[in-house]
This record gives sequence, structure tokens and C-alpha cells, in this order.
Amino acid sequence: MRLVSANFLALLFMCAIGSVFYVWSALESRLERHKRGFTIPGGALPADLSSKTFRALLAVPVAPQKAHLGGRNVTDHTLGSGHYHMNGYNKRRSARKGGPVKLGGSPLEDGIFWSERLEELLPVGFTEDEAREWREKAREYRVVKLETGCGRISNQLATFEDGSKACVRYGINADQVQGETLTYYLASLLGITNLPPLVLSQLSSDSEQWQAVRTRMEGLQWSERAVVSLTQWVSNLTGVVTPAPLRQENSGLHPSLKQLWNQSAAELLELMQWSDLIILDYLTANFDRLVSNLFSLQWDSRIMERDTNNLLRTPRGDLVFIDNEAGLVHGYRVLDMWEKYHKTVLSSVCVFRRRTAQRVAELHRRRDARTRLMELYRDSEPLSFHLGFLSDEHAALLQDRIDTLHRHILHCKAKYSQL
Ligand SMILES: Nc1ncnc2c1ncn2[C@@H]1O[C@H](COP(=O)(O)OP(=O)(O)OP(=O)(O)O)[C@@H](O)[C@H]1O
Ligand SMILES: [Mg+2]
Repeated sequence: MRLVSANFLALLFMCAIGSVFYVWSALESRLERHKRGFTIPGGALPADLSSKTFRALLAVPVAPQKAHLGGRNVTDHTLGSGHYHMNGYNKRRSARKGGPVKLGGSPLEDGIFWSERLEELLPVGFTEDEAREWREKAREYRVVKLETGCGRISNQLATFEDGSKACVRYGINADQVQGETLTYYLASLLGITNLPPLVLSQLSSDSEQWQAVRTRMEGLQWSERAVVSLTQWVSNLTGVVTPAPLRQENSGLHPSLKQLWNQSAAELLELMQWSDLIILDYLTANFDRLVSNLFSLQWDSRIMERDTNNLLRTPRGDLVFIDNEAGLVHGYRVLDMWEKYHKTVLSSVCVFRRRTAQRVAELHRRRDARTRLMELYRDSEPLSFHLGFLSDEHAALLQDRIDTLHRHILHCKAKYSQL
């Protein structure tokens, strides 16, 4: 009898614990739902309190965070998993690893340009040769596996027959694939090498490249003949928080910033890459990085303390600009909503890489951004005809933005060259 009542009591106790756990889990998940379903005051956009508040504009379901980490944890990378440019590698390494190394001397020259010495230390993210080699391979190699690991479900981590990997972006429409691809080539025109190499591929379950994953493609409901982009997958990437000078509460990245003289070489090299990032995002009207953070500041005052969307860092400290699908096409279409934030971000920067500024000046002087971008895209990408190019209206917008950017650089020069 005593044994029975002891068992009964134990059972009762377990039930009580179970109920508490059940109620707590339900509460937790309700809170979580509330967080994801947050609505912007005065607006109809559903938003996420993490860093993806503007996501609704893209109208793409976001995969759970866990899936993102999948890609980063794999360390047995082989070909195509981030073989960066090797020239001057050790020189840069000594500046970037082993504690804060001071630059010695001024980080700037001629008022608004990063110094030659810093330029020498700056990594060339993905070299032209490396990118060409990867692109040739990515067009031919068979895909043997598709799995999560590149963000939302419409992006898949592909493994090629040699074990190397790529992120396949299906895109909810051709605009996104076009934006991603043309941004890659625009960066290339500007000499910005932080974007992983990219190729287009046309899905076909009969083709040699896709045959092995046809069942998975069916499961994902990927349409036959759709054109997708493949970008080189890079191992061991980590998140990047916006550096202090570029945060809203500070005055921006400009030559009279005292802080520049106290920064380590590694910090300066990162700021240099940010100056290119801001130029690229302004030209392409890509709101899906710093600009979206600025927008989200309205209701999330600590957003700048979190990782910036679509920006990652290699262990060596090179920034990798991923997911550029909001650029050029979609970004231009929704420009009315984002332009004031784009302007704010651009006006916060008055220090540039000399070469980037020179290329902007050249595109401004010749007024040939459309032709140069189209020629590079057409000559480098066999599927360019399938995907198409910018409309005349969007090509004109690109040229306008180049002109505005050039004027901004001249304005900075006039303001700071006396320093
Ligand atoms: N080229 C790449 N190399 C390595 N990892 C990558 C690459 N591209 C994407 N990833 C991984 O996938 C994650 C999401 O990538 P991406 O931004 O392209 O997809 P997404 O669906 O837009 O996701 P998110 O909503 O987080 O922006 C990245 O944070 C990174 O972990
Ligand atoms: Mg993204």
C-alpha cells in the first residue's frame, strides 16, 4: 500500500513538473511569435525584431537561424571554399593578426583617400584569376548534393563532385537573380573584390550538372529552365558589427575623425572595406545591409550592436559581401521608400579608396556605365541573354547615382583637402 502511494505521489510530481514545462513552452513560443510578427507603427509591414525587419519587402520566407550556421561549421573545405588572393598575404597577415598592430604614419593622403601604405595591406578578396578558375569549374561540375546551409529554403548549399561547395540562389523571381548577378559585375567594374565569384546556371533535371539532385529539386519545387545563381561558398565566415564611426550616433567616417589615428591597422583595413561597401550599396540602392539597420533604428535602438545583414568576415579579416539580390533591380524599384536612408549612409562617408574613386570618376566622365556593365556581363556570362539586362530606366538611374556619388566625392575633397 505504502509502495503504491509512493508511486502515486511520484507520478503526481512528474505530472506537475510536466505541466509547468508545458505552460512555459507555450508562453515562450507565443512570445517568439509575437517577436516575429511585430508590426511597424503606422505601417503595414510585418517585421522581425532581429535584423531582418524589412524582409517583408522581399516576401521570402526566412529559414531558421540554425540552417545558416550549417554552412559555417564545416571546416573540411577543399577547392572553391575561399582560396583568397595570396600576394602579400604574409605582410597583411602580420598587420591583421597577433594583436592590434599600429599603422605608423597617417592613414590618409590627399585629404580624403586611404593611404598608399594601407592600400598595400588591403586584401584583394577574390582575385580575377581565382574567380575565373572557379567560374569555369562551377559551370561544368556536377552538383551531387543540395541541402540547407545558405539561408532561406530557396537558397541551397550545393556540393560539387569534387567536394567543393556553392550557394545556389533560386530567387522568387528573375529580378533577384538579375540584381545579384549585375551587382557582382558592377563591383568588378569598380575593382571591388569582396563578392564571391558567381555564375548563372539553367536548371534542367536532364542535364549532367543537375541530374544527381533532380529529386531534391522537385521537392523544392524548382522550375525546370529557371536561371539560378551559384556563388562560391567560403568556409569559416563570421558576422560583422557596423564599426563605431559608421553608427548613427557618431559623426561618420571623415578625415577629421581623431579616432582614425588611434585605430589598429586591422581596424583601418576593415574601415577601408566598409568605404567600398557603402559606395557599392549606394550605387545599387541595396537596402539589405546598413540601410535596413538605419531604418530599423526607429523601433530597435540596439540594432547597430548586432551583426550586419548579408555581410561576413573571413578569419583573416576580409569582408565578404553576400546576398546582393536587392541591388539594382529591386532596390531601384523601391527607391522611393529607401532613398533618404541611402543618402544618409552615403553622406556619412568622406574617406575613400583612391582606385574606387577613380573608377567612379571615369564612369561619370564617360557616362558609359550602362555599356561597360552590359559588355562585361555579356562577355563573362553565357546565360546573360536568358536573364536579360537592366531596363533603360534603371540603367539611367545607375548613371545618375554614379554622378551623384562623384559629386559627393568632390564635395568631400573640397571640404577636407586643406587638412
Ligand atoms: N558564399 C557563402 N559562403 C559561405 N556561407 C554563405 C555564403 N552565402 C551565404 N552563406 C551562409 O548563409 C547565410 C545566409 O545567406 P544569405 O544572406 O545569402 O541568405 P538569406 O536567405 O538572405 O538569409 P538571411 O535572411 O540571413 O539574409 C549566411 O549568413 C551564411 O551563413
Ligand atoms: Mg540575406
